[in-house]
Amino acid sequence: MQVTGKIVVVTGGAKGIGRALCDVFHRAGAAKVVVADIDPAGARAVAAKVDGAAFKCDVGKETDIRHVVEETERQFGPIALFCSNAGIGGGFDPLADNAGGTSDEPWSRSWAVHVMAHVYAARHLVPRMKARGEGYFLNTISAAGLLSQIGSPAYSTTKHAAVGFAESLAISHKAHGIRVSILCPQGVDTDMLRSIPKGPQSGDGDLTPEQVANDALQGIEQETFAILPHPQVLGYMRKKTENYDRWISGMAKIQARMREDYGKLRRPSPSLRAKRSNPLLGKLDCFVAFAPRNDGVGAVLTQLFCA
Ligand SMILES: NC(=O)c1ccc[n+]([C@@H]2O[C@H](COP(=O)([O-])OP(=O)(O)OC[C@H]3O[C@@H](n4cnc5c(N)ncnc54)[C@H](O)[C@@H]3O)[C@@H](O)[C@H]2O)c1
Repeated sequence: MQVTGKIVVVTGGAKGIGRALCDVFHRAGAAKVVVADIDPAGARAVAAKVDGAAFKCDVGKETDIRHVVEETERQFGPIALFCSNAGIGGGFDPLADNAGGTSDEPWSRSWAVHVMAHVYAARHLVPRMKARGEGYFLNTISAAGLLSQIGSPAYSTTKHAAVGFAESLAISHKAHGIRVSILCPQGVDTDMLRSIPKGPQSGDGDLTPEQVANDALQGIEQETFAILPHPQVLGYMRKKTENYDRWISGMAKIQARMREDYGKLRRPSPSLRAKRSNPLLGKLDCFVAFAPRNDGVGAVLTQLFCA
């Protein structure tokens, strides 16, 4: 599908990959780019840059998605391309005692944002697209939905579910002229990635959001189901399906190494333990040790350390 002259919606468009998607669709000549985000000021700023429109929207709420669909079509015309891109990190803890975690909260939030958001977009757009005989869904998922993300069971599980739903959407509605792509990068240099320590997701290098958005545009033009900005992911998928048990063992080894590395960070030296018994010095130590690393890693290590 060519986006030139089309109406496009991008959720999570206020920053990161979503913002880059808005830019790339605008440059490709989209008639209107609608930026839908839980951050209304961020959405308005991006919309102003791409001559688009902004909606405040929590993608985990069906009423918000329905509002974006209805209002976009009422004000601007038929949505040709709906990009379910919004996502959340959270829950990263390679030291967790139990992959099931301790509460439902991170699971239900991830389920709402990574899975139900895609379901709601389909629920309210498929009837309209079927009537028109065409339409396109681009769902930003992650290589974590095809492989896994160590230390993030809720993220990995819900991203796998998102792949499952996208497959069903593509299979069920191919005959109706509806096309689907899943966008599955590894590390992309955004706030989300910077909020966790460097890990295996960056092993093949972090891409810029702009590189990923360009790959997405190309994938849409070629109507490719799986858009893999890191081509290595296809090789990892092949290895996984070739010998699932060997793949699980390999991943478990990486997890063990991560536990060791993060465990060391959590166990303070005797001198630091002494300082930490003084509440003020303890706080300062965390600050002095990690605050200078202004790359997102510092913040997370501080959190681990002071926990
Ligand atoms: N950054 C990476 O390394 C990476 C890798 C693979 C996949 N992804 C996926 O790409 C997508 C975008 O991530 P990013 O890295 O650009 O993140 P980001 O944190 O930079 O941006 C996420 C955007 O989504 C918005 N958002 C969050 N929750 C929302 C909600 N409930 N409703 C509406 N908007 C919401 C945020 O306000 C923000 O504008 C996500 O689905 C993420 O899982 C990211």
